Amino acid sequence: MKKRVLSGIQPTGNIHIGNYLGAMQHWVASQDEYDNFFCIVDLHSITVPQDVKQLRAKVRELAGILLAIGIDPEKSTIFVQSNISAHAELTWILNCFTPIGWLQRMTQFKDKSEKQEVISTGLFDYPVLMTADILLYNADYVPVGEDQKQHVELSRDIAIRFNSIYGKVFKIPEALIPKVGARIMGLDDPTRKMSKSEAGQGHAINLLDPPNVITNKIKRAATDSQRDILFDKNRPGVYNLLTIYELFSKMSRPKIESHFSGKGYSDLKKELAEVVIEGLRPIQERYKEITSDPSYIETLLKSGADKARPFAESVLNKVMDKVGLG
Ligand code: AMP
Ligand code: TRP
Repeated sequence: MKKRVLSGIQPTGNIHIGNYLGAMQHWVASQDEYDNFFCIVDLHSITVPQDVKQLRAKVRELAGILLAIGIDPEKSTIFVQSNISAHAELTWILNCFTPIGWLQRMTQFKDKSEKQEVISTGLFDYPVLMTADILLYNADYVPVGEDQKQHVELSRDIAIRFNSIYGKVFKIPEALIPKVGARIMGLDDPTRKMSKSEAGQGHAINLLDPPNVITNKIKRAATDSQRDILFDKNRPGVYNLLTIYELFSKMSRPKIESHFSGKGYSDLKKELAEVVIEGLRPIQERYKEITSDPSYIETLLKSGADKARPFAESVLNKVMDKVGLG
């Protein structure tokens, strides 16, 4: 039997190359090896204020992007979290088995709550909802970027704790984090993770950015006052640009360093823009084709939810039974 993969992504902001390089491209690459579920996590999005119309549109846009990068609905199930009520229901039950102290340790909550005027209970509880997403599908693996490692570890802790009380109910999941690209940094500030919620114009390269926008963003990217173009972690700006180059060009690090030896930052930026534009071109073309018929995505999301629901309900029923509910 194939191992099961589940991962999630929020339909908020613009999907950027950090999402793609750190997570989404790996979903595509290992599609044949695993049995896959990809969840568009709109319940996570409402943990911070959202525009209603925009949220629905972003769910469709994200589904289009998932198809455009190569997720094949014949091999993988794409669905919207709020279409399956078991996610919210299991979250409530798991809340009752999650010590508050475990959530207080979550670094992403600390970061995100600093940016909010009013901090919702949902934002605090976000990792338990993510745990429900994972455990409902008996996922073996959860392919994510570095920033989600702590959340996946929490989901393991919650599953282990529940199982220690009620017997083997949940599969214990494992995070899959890529060796390179698990933490792409902002172009404007390479000490901060590239993030959907950063407002800065030159912060992130979005998957649907047109070529001239990509070129301009890369041109303005922060570097340093040195000259040599080397993979040196102590020079975060250049290191980040080189890592993006490495992932798009698929060249080895020594080859990249010798390729840029004697060249300057403007050459690096020019060539980086070229590989990124060429890498995203087929995705953008497919995105246009796919979204030319909006009913296609509606049908896909409905059938995705219909496929995913029985899996989730079966786990939820088992949990309810164990806990004495229903
Ligand atoms: P999110 O944008 O928070 O919905 O994240 C979706 C996926 O992209 C998760 O697996 C994240 O870990 C991953 N991700 C987000 N930002 C980055 C980044 N800057 N570098 C690498 N992976 C990222
Ligand atoms: N919290 C994740 C993020 O922001 C998204 C997510 C929600 C997720 N549920 C998940 C990722 C389940 C993996 C598995 O990136």
